Parts: sequence; C-alpha cells; structure tokens
Amino acid sequence: MTFLSATLSRVKPSPTIAVTNKARELKEAGRDVIGLGAGEPDFDTPDNIKAAAIAAIQAGKTKYTAVDGIAELKQAICAKFLRDNSLSYTPDQVSVGTGGKQILYNALVATLNPGDEVVIPAPYWVSYPDMVLLAGGEPVIAETSLQTGFKLTADQLEAAITPKTKWFIFNSPSNPTGAGYSHDELKALTDVLIRHPHVWVMTDDMYEHLAYDDFRFCTPAQVEPALYERTLTCNGVSKAYAMTGWRIGYAAGPQPLIAAMRKIQSQSTSNPCSVSQWAAVEALNGPQDFLPTNNTVFQRRRDLVLSMLNDIDGVTCPTPEGAFYVYPSIAGLIGTTSPAGTVIADDETFATALLEETGVAVVFGAAFGLSPNFRISYATSDEALTEACRRIQTFCAALT
Ligand SMILES: Cc1ncc(COP(=O)(O)O)c(C=O)c1O
Repeated sequence: MTFLSATLSRVKPSPTIAVTNKARELKEAGRDVIGLGAGEPDFDTPDNIKAAAIAAIQAGKTKYTAVDGIAELKQAICAKFLRDNSLSYTPDQVSVGTGGKQILYNALVATLNPGDEVVIPAPYWVSYPDMVLLAGGEPVIAETSLQTGFKLTADQLEAAITPKTKWFIFNSPSNPTGAGYSHDELKALTDVLIRHPHVWVMTDDMYEHLAYDDFRFCTPAQVEPALYERTLTCNGVSKAYAMTGWRIGYAAGPQPLIAAMRKIQSQSTSNPCSVSQWAAVEALNGPQDFLPTNNTVFQRRRDLVLSMLNDIDGVTCPTPEGAFYVYPSIAGLIGTTSPAGTVIADDETFATALLEETGVAVVFGAAFGLSPNFRISYATSDEALTEACRRIQTFCAALT
C-alpha cells in the first residue's frame, strides 16, 4: 500500500507480542494455555513504590515535567550509577524516557545516518535490529554460539566492526539467553573496542539486578573507563522493580548525546509520565531488600526449568547467569514429526506445534536471530513452569 512509508516496510512487528497475542486468543477460545512468552516479572510492584505514586497524585504532581526527567529522578539515577556501578555522572548527562525502549530508540534516531552500521550480537532482543532499521541504519548481526554460552568473543566482535560501524549494542544479562558476561569476558570485548575509537557502545543493562549464583554484574564503562566518553549506559526500572507498566527507562552518557536525545523526545512524546517518575525515584532511592528475595525465587525457577529441559533427548540448554530466560537448542529434534503430523523443520514449526498440540506458548529462536532454539520466560509460578515443562517433555518424547 503506497500510503505507508518505505521505512515501515523495513521492519517487522514484534514476534514476542505476536506469540503473547496468539496464546491469549487460544485462551479466550477455551484452550488450556500456559504462556511462557511474555518478558515480565509476575511479581507485583513493591508497596513503597505504589505509595510514592499515590502520594505524587495527591500532591498534584500531575503536570508536564522537564522533557527528559524531573531533577529528583536524575539525582536518584546519578546516585544509582555511583552506588551500583562506580560510574560518576551529573544530572545533565542523564536522560529519562518512557521505558528503556524509548531511550534506546531516541539514541539511535539521534545518531544514525543512512549506511551507518550497528553491531548486534545474536541472539538479540527482538527490537534492536528493527529500531536500527527504523532509525535509518544497518544492523550487522554477529552470531554467537551455544558453545560459548551465547557470549560474543573478541574475534567475533573484531570481525563485525567496519569503518561504517557507529554503535555496538551490548546486553548482559541478555534477553533472550540470560547470558551474563564476567569481568574478564567483557574486558576481552572492551579491549577490541579500545582499538576502534569510532565505535560507540550502547549497553542495555536492563537485567543488571537479576543475577544468580556467584555472577557479578559489570558494565562496559566500569570495566574500561577509557570508554566512558563514548558509552551510553542504559537501564530502567521495568524488570528488577516489577514496573513494566509504569514505563520508565533511563540512560547516562556524554552530555551532547543526551541533549540530542532530549531534542528527539521534545518533538515526539515529551516527558515520561510524571507519576511514574516519582514512583521511580522511590524505586531507586528506597529499600532494595526485595531484590535478593525475588532473585531467590527466580533462581529456583531457572534451576527447575533447566533440569526438566536438559532431561529431554535432543534438547540442550546452558545455565544462564541472569535475567529470567532460558534459550534451549532443539538441534536434536529437527526433522522429526509431531503426533499431529507436523514436520519439525525449524524452531518456528516447533513452537507452533507445541502451542497447538500442548497449549504451551514459547517464542521461536529465529525471532531472536539464532536457530534452532526457543525462549522460555520463567517469570511465572513454579506450578505453571512444572506443568509446561512436563508437557514439553511429553511432546518431545512423542516426536518420531
Ligand atoms: C533487553 C531489554 N531491553 C529493553 C527492554 C525494554 O524495557 P522497557 O519495558 O522499560 O521499555 C526490554 C524489555 O523486554 C528488554 O528485554
């Protein structure tokens, strides 16, 4: 349809949202569906955060605010970066947007010109390549492998960088694999980046606080201070504080970049929701003690799902360091046939047959740029996870 823009034809709708919608449709039609597609915690937003929002409404903090965030939130973000990441930023180096998603999008729109390349390790969060395309740039996909726990190696990063590279997008712990880079693994990448001064780093630290076992989170500008001047450190309250619906994300980086992002936001959405900003102040400044409590629950669920999946012939899953996802390989099941007669040709046919024949909704790996795999979000009850994994086991055992 010629009415629509050429840019629009470069992007596809979010496959994770498509799976969630399909699962909802089947549920509404009366099917017994267990949805493991959605990437959000099942926990409720902590009460102190809700109370701060209610107090903000009652105090009339319901008007437009500064375009990229109230001073109190920017202060809380600076304090957070110092406390958690040993990174020193001033409020004019901070941008607050409507979710982490808008922050990343603003930064790409503010910086990309046609032909500019953005290196994205695969598997990747579904929105990165499409955001790059919408902003007029070219995604360059650097594939990782199961053998390295889905982590990019220095050689793979080196091979992906060209004179046209503008950004390297880094995400640890990762959506969709949960892979978290240790200090040494990240240092190997920052050593490469030091050799390429024209490449900027966009690090998406959204899952920073969701880390298990003895994994210690670290972020590029902390591991290699020489990258501070060309790093945008992005984060948000959505996942760790169970605030997905409040829509607050933020980033810190060089002041001219932050000013450019503010310009984009001023001409598109203006400020993020005033009430949500006050809730985020409380999230960042208030008690953090529920984080380890939630992590104990997430780690138990990760271990439950991993042991049930790794018991299946033809399925292999490395142990992720963080987030709330696992990304098993189904290489050993390709070419088999399901009880209803579907040939499992790839991970998309696997996920479709699994949903239709057992009512378990997962997202197929091709959506994240690395196949044949599927993603499970284990941010749901132990009972639902146990039942879902039992159905996956039965389905896989019946493949011939
Ligand atoms: C890696 C990653 N970055 C960013 C986001 C977006 O977060 P928000 O909901 O704050 O826009 C998500 C959400 O799924 C994510 O998984």
